[in-house]
Amino acid sequence: MQTLRVNGQTYPVDVDPDTPLLWVLRDIIGLNGTKFGCGMAQCGVCTVHLDGTPVRSCVLQIGQIKQNAVITTIEGVDEIDPVVRAVQKAWIDLDVVQCGYCQPGQIMAAVGLLKTVPNPTDEQIDSAMSGNMCRCGTYMRIRKAIHQAAGEAA
Ligand code: FES
Repeated sequence: MQTLRVNGQTYPVDVDPDTPLLWVLRDIIGLNGTKFGCGMAQCGVCTVHLDGTPVRSCVLQIGQIKQNAVITTIEGVDEIDPVVRAVQKAWIDLDVVQCGYCQPGQIMAAVGLLKTVPNPTDEQIDSAMSGNMCRCGTYMRIRKAIHQAAGEAA
């Protein structure tokens, strides 16, 4: 039995330690906002935060997660946080989303970037977001939205 802290709540989880976090989030805890994509940490749609850092939940085995680690999913982002609010606003203002499937992962990656680099250059955005695929090709709007969010969160 392992205990996970997800979005401010504690969940006892009785599964094999090599179970990927994504499966636990979706199938056991019931948080379906985080999506399955490639299953090999190549596309980024499963991105969540572990102690504030974006990670790929499809390859992160729960046995690798420390006891008191803080896991945040798209459902649990702190909407009072100025960076989160600025990202949400920019995504809406610029109509970033197309089909939407990749967007939870994009937003978690964007928030993670702006938490560590408050005013990123195009190159820093492209580098930080390069692991998050978008089959609809929203990359230019994502980049623009991150710049807008950086300006508003400052
Ligand atoms: Fe459709 Fe990114 S918005 S895959």
